Amino acid sequence: MSTPRRRRARRIAQANNKGGTGKTSATVNLAAALAEHGQRVLVVDMDPQGNAGRRLAAQIDASQPTVSDVLKALAETERPEELAGCAVDAFAPIGWPEPYSERITLIPSRPDLENRALTEAGLLGAVQRLAVALDGADDDFDVVLIDCPPNLGHLTQLALAAADCVVIVTDAELDGIEGAIAMRDFVQHGRRRLANPDLRVLGYVVNRVDLRMGSDRYQVEETIPETFGDEVLEPRLPVRAVVKDAADADPPRPLRLLGRDGTEMAARYDDLAQGIAQRAGLGMLTKEAFA
Ligand SMILES: Nc1ncnc2c1ncn2[C@@H]1O[C@H](COP(=O)(O)OP(=O)(O)O)[C@@H](O)[C@H]1O
Ligand SMILES: [Mg+2]
Repeated sequence: MSTPRRRRARRIAQANNKGGTGKTSATVNLAAALAEHGQRVLVVDMDPQGNAGRRLAAQIDASQPTVSDVLKALAETERPEELAGCAVDAFAPIGWPEPYSERITLIPSRPDLENRALTEAGLLGAVQRLAVALDGADDDFDVVLIDCPPNLGHLTQLALAAADCVVIVTDAELDGIEGAIAMRDFVQHGRRRLANPDLRVLGYVVNRVDLRMGSDRYQVEETIPETFGDEVLEPRLPVRAVVKDAADADPPRPLRLLGRDGTEMAARYDDLAQGIAQRAGLGMLTKEAFA
């Protein structure tokens, strides 16, 4: 009798063509929400700025391999298939003082990832290297969250070639919405060229909403539903200083450790994680066994 192969983790890229919309905030806070519910989460930082790793309080010393090293190893071999799963070489723990942190693993980035992107962009087969590196490496995880840089360049394409689906994170401003549209169209038109024809947009996170502002209200109530329809994920995330405070604390902390505002915001990310888990086929998240 053959044993069924274990289902591979769901890989979800957080993306938008524009910066500052909340991709990295979504990545780290969804990682917290999912891990609190017992999910094993791998965070892949594809932004050379390394914000995700820093906000997860990971200690990245000079000897820690990063996503650049993984891509470099694949660039230098003539038999990339033999390096399938080599992303494990860059696994790093995160540093939040919470028991569920053990369920979050990071593949960090460094600024040199930018040079790697410049060296290999457009080379035959290069865009598949993250997918090859993750194949097998993520078998022991439930979810892989890939944090993308704010563009449609090579690093984002590596993420999209490896992902099952994309969560597009927008704010309530026209530039963010334009960036979200550009990302949606890029997924639709580019997925075959990325050899990933089943890639789909899982939904849209609407972040940094300030309903006291007429323009935000208009975008949230008119433009965003008209443009993205029922793919908009609930709840929308309000603008709250605590998101920035958690990210900028020294050392950085998860939202729940920042008082009532933090707990309230974390609860919103929990609800968002529920919707995402269901759309991604992870099923209902339950907490009992892990509380
Ligand atoms: N809902 C929010 N309320 C207040 N500040 C936020 C919110 N979401 C994100 N921020 C802050 O806005 C800035 C940009 O967010 P970030 O997640 O880094 O965006 P991106 O990764 O898309 O560039 C960061 O300083 C972050 O802490
Ligand atoms: Mg970011």
